[in-house]
Amino acid sequence: MIDMDYGAEVEQPTYPMARDARCPFAPPSQYRELRETSPITRVRLYDGREVWMFTRYEDIRTVLSHPAVSAETLNPDFPFLTPGDKISKQAQSFQRWDDPRHATRRRMFMPHFTIKRVEAMRPRIRRMIDDIYDRMIEVGPPLDLVEHLALALPSSVACELLGVDYDNHEFFESRFAVRLDRRASAEQVRQANAEVMAFVENVVRSKYGANLPDLIGQFVTQRVETGEVSHEDAVTDATLLLLAGHETTANMIALGTLALLRHPDQRDRIVADPGLVPNAVEELLRFLTISQSMGVRIAKEDFEVSGQPIAAGDGLIVPVAAGNWDDSAFECPERLDVTRAARGHITFGFGPHVCLGQPLARMELQEVFSTLFQRFPGLRIDIPFEEVGFKFDAVFYGLYDLPVTWDADAALEVANAQRR
Ligand code: HEM
Repeated sequence: MIDMDYGAEVEQPTYPMARDARCPFAPPSQYRELRETSPITRVRLYDGREVWMFTRYEDIRTVLSHPAVSAETLNPDFPFLTPGDKISKQAQSFQRWDDPRHATRRRMFMPHFTIKRVEAMRPRIRRMIDDIYDRMIEVGPPLDLVEHLALALPSSVACELLGVDYDNHEFFESRFAVRLDRRASAEQVRQANAEVMAFVENVVRSKYGANLPDLIGQFVTQRVETGEVSHEDAVTDATLLLLAGHETTANMIALGTLALLRHPDQRDRIVADPGLVPNAVEELLRFLTISQSMGVRIAKEDFEVSGQPIAAGDGLIVPVAAGNWDDSAFECPERLDVTRAARGHITFGFGPHVCLGQPLARMELQEVFSTLFQRFPGLRIDIPFEEVGFKFDAVFYGLYDLPVTWDADAALEVANAQRR
């Protein structure tokens, strides 16, 4: 039993909190319990440090957008979730900076992620998806949907956008996977980090003097060669974009497919009415909240949240999954309902660091979920649900693999009809 009177000698809740493996789509049940009993509370981190944790939707949005709150991981008092977390976050991309320098750098990348720019990529992404589906049909069932679709699509898209050779995808995917694994030792994270940074450093170097049209090429020509941004900063920012550009969307495709297979009534609704897909994507983003370890901050000045004083230097844990399952913001949050108004979810964060790539992620997810079930009739998982490998201990929630099968003859017929 957890006693919330933290003035006494009591057991503190620890963070991160575990999900219940029997309800793997739900966030840890402690979020709900704390929201009901002690929505702003103290929790203990792996190193014994105590920090504030917030579980109400409104409080989370207040903290993430408050000017007294900092994302600067070089602050010596910044709270980390594991020793490996400390190492990976000390490679300082603009995600770990505060305004105004954060806003200045973010603005340099924004033109690549506008809705207009992303919409222009839609036809190309449709062709990529068609090629992936053709390869899946060629390989035939059963196969691992994570490898063949969920990772393949966002990785190819990120490589094309940034100007990274896709032939290297297995290398960078495996190194990023270590970096994002909360179970990895500090040494493993250090090693994976060094290897991936060396890889991206080579990519950045290859852009000098070439005026290439891809994102990193343009950034080097316009910002690095002009002396506005250092070579080192270009490497850390490009690493962030490569990581954020593939791993997040990959987990959403895998977990979203599984969630729809487990809720066939919801899958049938989007198959019957593809116009529902954009809304279904918002609901899947809310329901699954793959950004499970994001939202860690430090107070740089004293401030208040819902009457609770917070002191400068206090660590802040702001789990967006708790906000997305707050029933004061979303009625019956435990119900996956592709028709609900879910757009106010905070899966992409909130405030100055809100996800830069959200238009791209949304578009990739819309294209997948408006075609996958039509192209693979009878799509189903090929192992018992209890054996599915959930990423309980990763920064982004998702699946390690998802063996699936489908009705091969029917899928071939659909593919042939598509080609005619
Ligand atoms: C479903 C997919 C995605 C999810 C759930 C997601 C989630 C998030 C979240 C929660 C944040 C805020 C982190 C914080 O407050 O500390 C964030 C930031 C960011 N995301 Fe995403 N993301 C996704 C896809 C992408 C894609 C495709 C890109 C593009 C390359 C991207 C690029 C970024 C960048 C650059 C930031 C840092 C923004 C800043 O600090 O100003 N993300 N993302």
